[in-house]
Amino acid sequence: MTAYPFIEACWRRPVPRRPVWIMRQAGRYMPQYQEIRGRTDFLTLCKTPELAAQVTLLPIEILGVDAAILFSDILIPLEPMGISVAFEDKIGPVLSPVRDEKSIRALRGIEPGEDVPFVPEAIRLIRRELEGKTPLIGFSGSPFTLATYAVEGGTSKSFHNIKGLLYSRPDLADMLLEKLCGVVVSYLNSQIRAGAQAIQIFDTWGGILSGEEYARFSLNPLRKVLKGLDRDSVPVIYYLNDGAHLVPLLDSLEVEVLGIDWRQDIGQVRQALGRKKAIQGNLDPAVLFASPDEIARRARLIMDAAGPEPGHIFNLGHGILPTTPVRNAIALVEAVHSYRE
Ligand code: CP3
Repeated sequence: MTAYPFIEACWRRPVPRRPVWIMRQAGRYMPQYQEIRGRTDFLTLCKTPELAAQVTLLPIEILGVDAAILFSDILIPLEPMGISVAFEDKIGPVLSPVRDEKSIRALRGIEPGEDVPFVPEAIRLIRRELEGKTPLIGFSGSPFTLATYAVEGGTSKSFHNIKGLLYSRPDLADMLLEKLCGVVVSYLNSQIRAGAQAIQIFDTWGGILSGEEYARFSLNPLRKVLKGLDRDSVPVIYYLNDGAHLVPLLDSLEVEVLGIDWRQDIGQVRQALGRKKAIQGNLDPAVLFASPDEIARRARLIMDAAGPEPGHIFNLGHGILPTTPVRNAIALVEAVHSYRE
């Protein structure tokens, strides 16, 4: 575990300073981001390495977080597979859904160097700018979470299209997930080759499944991805949203860090997992609408519950909300850094 440079700090005894970064560090809550977005639509921003690099670096300077996360989106690798992807204000992502055998069979594999060259290029630029002072996290959606967007055509409340596919045509769901596994492996390996120093895999929608379906349609593909990664010295953070009922299934999962949302008690998760994995999380993003004192108090409760042993990366339980005051995000980072056991 301690062989990984980024995770190492949180395993040192005594913990010198808990590492903290925030999900969606660069986003609509930052005026500097809004200024750039006023001139550039979101997808163009993702596809222009110089701009993606500039936006990635904002939170390092403004918030003082301990890791940079690549500015991009989990839906980027779906486009070269043959799915159209658009981001619409107030609606979110809109995709051309793939729901039948013909359209699933037609999905292509990707060659990241040719299909999404702007991603490795942005990583190389960011690494140069960071000069080794702050580690850079690359990322991907999990095969299952990407499948939900591909099949639903966007975000959903009921997820009846993806669930309908799992229950009525599990063979087709397997075929789709198999293709997504190949895409995620080559996408993440290209990020690692370009210089990503840790990888986060977002399973935002894994928690909509019961244990049996989760094991088959989310965990199995994830295990395949992990086997395919060239990652001797690159730790993997697996973020599972709304997955309290699934934690018992994660015991043997070969990742270095488990990221959890705010619904779970971090102390209990720690106990359930023992000392085999570090834990990342898990402040409710909405706490950032409270006063700096209340933010600090709730951050301390999480650090108390995570315990004095090393192996905790402080984070929000999900992405930072668009109207969050930046000064409150700064207050959170300061509260984590000034915490003493
Ligand atoms: O943390 C970072 O700053 C890194 C960049 C990043 C974005 N999206 C930027 C973004 C990361 C890591 C993501 C991951 C992502 N994207 C996930 C997994 C994490 C999670 O939030 O559960 C998911 C599910 C997506 C898909 C997606 N992208 C949605 C649902 C939306 C709309 C969100 C909304 O509130 O409307 C996006 C758009 C998006 N991705 C924005 C940003 C900064 C907002 C775009 C804008 O309007 O400027």
